[in-house]
Amino acid sequence: MTAHTMRVTLTVRDLTEADLPGLAWSGSPLHVANMARQLARARAGAMDYLVVVTATGTSVAKGGVDYETHPGAGSITEVAVRGELQSLGIGTFLVATMEERMRSRGLSRAELDVEENNPRARALYERLGYVAYDRALESWDQEGPDGSPYRYETMCTLMRKELAGR
Ligand SMILES: CC(C)(COP(=O)(O)OP(=O)(O)OC[C@H]1O[C@@H](n2cnc3c(N)ncnc32)[C@H](O)[C@@H]1OP(=O)(O)O)[C@@H](O)C(=O)NCCC(=O)NCCS
Repeated sequence: MTAHTMRVTLTVRDLTEADLPGLAWSGSPLHVANMARQLARARAGAMDYLVVVTATGTSVAKGGVDYETHPGAGSITEVAVRGELQSLGIGTFLVATMEERMRSRGLSRAELDVEENNPRARALYERLGYVAYDRALESWDQEGPDGSPYRYETMCTLMRKELAGR
């Protein structure tokens, strides 16, 4: 059997309201509702909210850079790559674009928190040059399988990276 290959073009752009229904893969209805709130913050300039799409507009990854969490730095948040498309370099591509957004705002430091129960994500960030400097207990609202809300608590590693100039 002969294998044939083709390359598929992916684009990173600002997330819009129209992307939200197609991003249901990235989390619960509560998460999608939260994304609508984040979008409003992005419009106000408090964050960059990005989506990676195919040429037909199908979303394969998304994530944000928050400019208010750590004044003077960009904080990477809510990074997710569609499960069946992980380990292809899409997360790396998205983070590189986020760092570019930070540089274009004149910032020289990137920050992020990664859950201690997520060693694969931590390994990716380390590979990209992020260095752990502290840990913190964090919590946010989540939805159980039956849709009931609960407070999720998790220990996170705090990481940062000094961004090289252009
Ligand atoms: C963590 C996450 C964002 C990483 O995204 P990703 O697209 O899988 O990341 P990348 O493909 O760029 O890099 C990850 C892996 O792919 C490998 N890789 C990168 N480019 C590659 C390529 N071109 N060909 C083959 N493998 C490649 C890397 O070596 C790395 O190895 P691993 O599979 O052992 O981890 C993604 O797994 C995810 O969405 N996880 C669930 C949500 C989550 O944990 N988010 C992070 C919150 S902090």
